Amino acid sequence: MNILIVLAHPKPGSFNHAIADTVRNTLEAAGHQVTLRDLHGEGFDPLFTPDELARGHVPTPEVREHADLVLNADAIVVVHPNWWAQAPAILKGWLDRVLRAGEAYRFGTNEQGEGVIIGLLKAKAALVFTTSNTPREAELRLYGDPLDNFWKACVWGFCGVPKVERRNFESVIASTPEQRAEWLQEVARLTQAVIA
Ligand SMILES: Cc1cc2nc3c(=O)[nH]c(=O)nc-3n(C[C@H](O)[C@H](O)[C@H](O)COP(=O)(O)O)c2cc1C
Repeated sequence: MNILIVLAHPKPGSFNHAIADTVRNTLEAAGHQVTLRDLHGEGFDPLFTPDELARGHVPTPEVREHADLVLNADAIVVVHPNWWAQAPAILKGWLDRVLRAGEAYRFGTNEQGEGVIIGLLKAKAALVFTTSNTPREAELRLYGDPLDNFWKACVWGFCGVPKVERRNFESVIASTPEQRAEWLQEVARLTQAVIA
């Protein structure tokens, strides 16, 4: 299968980079065709321009390349830290620009004439790995884990991906090297389970 990994973390050597490398190694060992795009590393431009709102806008070569990677992917993996309960701005801008109307999704009507969203991606699975520092219990009680609904319903569900799994690792700041090594083993297991 063709698999796209998108990584959004500014620091080479971070735990997020280790997650992305583990996903890539696991998938390559299973014989998949893998593309890993490190958004900070390549300096992806996340700034949505006024022109992009126009119907029929021709995207920049950079956005076109990323959009084609998404459209051709059989599965998509995203790796990022929780920043203010959201994805880092570079990844949010990537979503804004790369998941294009008419390509990743479109608006249509159902039999009752009501407006509906039609997801257009061919990817059959999406897997999202996030990291954070807030303890799980507090994240759920205080904030309701906004990233879960965001990735499952608002992004990949919206674009028609039928299977979306997410795993958050916390608290990274309080973790030991042994804990992080165990987490990376879990990353490999989950990758194998979700992307067969
Ligand atoms: C700008 C910024 C915002 C952050 N916001 C949150 C947050 O809302 N919730 C949280 O639990 N951690 C937050 N963190 C902590 C990061 O999630 C944490 O540093 C990261 O997941 C650790 O992974 P790493 O070792 O790969 O950097 C924030 C960190 C930064 C730099």
